[in-house]
Amino acid sequence: MLQTKDLTVRFGGHVAVNAVSCTFQPGTLTAIVGPNGAGKTTYFNLISGQIRASSGDAFLNGNSLAGLSPSARTRAGLGRAFQLTNLFPNLSVLENVRLAVQAARAGKHLRGLNLWSIWSDHKALTQLAEEVLEAVSMAGKRHTTVASLPHGDQRKLEVALLMALEPDVFMFDEPTAGMSADEAPVILNLIRKLKNDKRKTILLVEHKMDVVRELADRIIVLHNGSLVADGEPSEVIASPVVQEAYLGVNPKDALAQADAPPHPGLPPQGGRSETP
Ligand SMILES: Nc1ncnc2c1ncn2[C@@H]1O[C@H](COP(=O)(O)OP(=O)(O)OP(=O)(O)O)[C@@H](O)[C@H]1O
Ligand SMILES: [Mg+2]
Repeated sequence: MLQTKDLTVRFGGHVAVNAVSCTFQPGTLTAIVGPNGAGKTTYFNLISGQIRASSGDAFLNGNSLAGLSPSARTRAGLGRAFQLTNLFPNLSVLENVRLAVQAARAGKHLRGLNLWSIWSDHKALTQLAEEVLEAVSMAGKRHTTVASLPHGDQRKLEVALLMALEPDVFMFDEPTAGMSADEAPVILNLIRKLKNDKRKTILLVEHKMDVVRELADRIIVLHNGSLVADGEPSEVIASPVVQEAYLGVNPKDALAQADAPPHPGLPPQGGRSETP
């Protein structure tokens, strides 16, 4: 169980995350939504230890995470998608996943330094790495160097590495952003599969409301750093606070908004980019 209590961070005078208290249970996928700049990524950064809280704390299975480095939090079971800066750009995709698998198992499977165990561990780790790559449809790119992967593949690799760590808590921050229409379903399928494992706690920051509607067991809404709604998806989506906070419209205008193009700034569906 993951919990935050009054988790807060200030950047100068700006309170980016404001006293957020929330409990995330295993077997539940919680979608975290809110407008750009609401504090969603910063909330993840606080939980994973990338940035230090100004006040408040996060707890994993009742244990305070305060003072733990990001890697100590990873070892404790928190899984945040790797940033590519954590990878070895000149090594192959397979080598990178194998290192992640190895890191995840360090301590669990250490059997002493003899050549036989090194060889058999290496084989087992390669096998696991291959399975993880298969799961994200990247087996064909196993020998490609990470630096030369296109953006969509880099994002898929981030998810592959997260899977390899086998964390208790999965934190996905817009996992399909920048992916093509045929890449995104690969990741969404993986998240669907993860949901079947009732020991796992899943947090998903996602702007696409159709994805949220399908996957979320619960939605929390952040707005200006504060938690403004929390509950069952259909209720939260219908609530005036979400219509206003998330869609940025008055509740009474929400119906009109539903008829507008889904993404302001993009052409209407059908591909027309200019009005006659
Ligand atoms: N390291 C930082 N230093 C100063 N301000 C920051 C820092 N990180 C985030 N912020 C600010 O905190 C606020 C929350 O940003 P955050 O990236 O968490 O929003 P978000 O909800 O993830 O938005 P988006 O949907 O666009 O990804 C923003 O005003 C942002 O400019
Ligand atoms: Mg963000």
